[in-house]
Amino acid sequence: MSQADVLAQIQHLKTSRKAVILAHNYQPAEIQDLADFTGDSLELSQQAAITPAEVIVFCGVHFMAETAYILSPMKKVLLPDAAAGCFMADMITAEKLRAKKKELPGVPVVCYVNSPADVKAESDICCTSSNAAKVIESLPQKEILFVPDKYLGQWGASQTGKKLHLWPGFCPTHARILPEHILKLKEEYPTAKVVAHPECRPEVHALADAVLSTGGFMQYARQPDVKQMIVATEEGVIHRLEKENPGKLFIPIKEVAICANMKLTTPEKVLWSLQDMSTEVIVPEEIRLKALGAVQRMLKAV
Ligand code: 13P
Ligand code: SF4
Repeated sequence: MSQADVLAQIQHLKTSRKAVILAHNYQPAEIQDLADFTGDSLELSQQAAITPAEVIVFCGVHFMAETAYILSPMKKVLLPDAAAGCFMADMITAEKLRAKKKELPGVPVVCYVNSPADVKAESDICCTSSNAAKVIESLPQKEILFVPDKYLGQWGASQTGKKLHLWPGFCPTHARILPEHILKLKEEYPTAKVVAHPECRPEVHALADAVLSTGGFMQYARQPDVKQMIVATEEGVIHRLEKENPGKLFIPIKEVAICANMKLTTPEKVLWSLQDMSTEVIVPEEIRLKALGAVQRMLKAV
């Protein structure tokens, strides 16, 4: 089947199934182009919560599809490749979190959405990379247990002055971005702005003009004085940045910053997922309701 046939069949099935296709900013270019909406984690969960569609095809990774289901259990949420997990989300379990909470009685848990549903269910409030500092700020307590991303937690602590107990998780893709990559590109492009994702190391944050979510990258790039930008995050964002800002230069951290799980989605898999209505992502109701509390508290706090 030609690529044009695949795309035509996706459009046809999307209408007959009353489906919407959501894509994360790290998805391959052809997936972003066929999606109805492309955005960061917060924007995608907001879309999942308000869409009138009956089916959500979630082009991203498992925790994102789970969050969509947590917010919209009456919809069918499909993940085109069931193997698309998140290495960071796999660095924590609900059991280990329960043990840690016992060591820190009375300390609230802020949980980055890059985590399994049962970990969210054990947490007081969720956050994304775009609102972590505001969520931390919204809590009256001075001491917080932040899970699972130690680098986002360090960034949150630096922005709020609060004492954060950090879970030792991290994103292996962002951890590969090193200060020397930025410094080398700065030598080549001295007037370029440096924008980093908070999942990067603090040494990379320190070299950045701004530390932002992937949605924040899009907003930052629209500023008239930004002509060149060194992009310290997964390279998938470059597609939208270039499409929305013709004539501007976006410089990736070559080769190192690729999330293999985000690249598992293909147009064929999107088609198959609509044909077979699979793979459906579901969260047991007891866990969903507890996790929903943490997600809703985040949506209210920011
Ligand atoms: P954003 O919420 O900034 O899109 O980040 C999601 C993610 O997985 C980053 O690695
Ligand atoms: Fe998870 Fe990192 Fe991939 Fe984001 S880039 S989905 S944090 S492994």
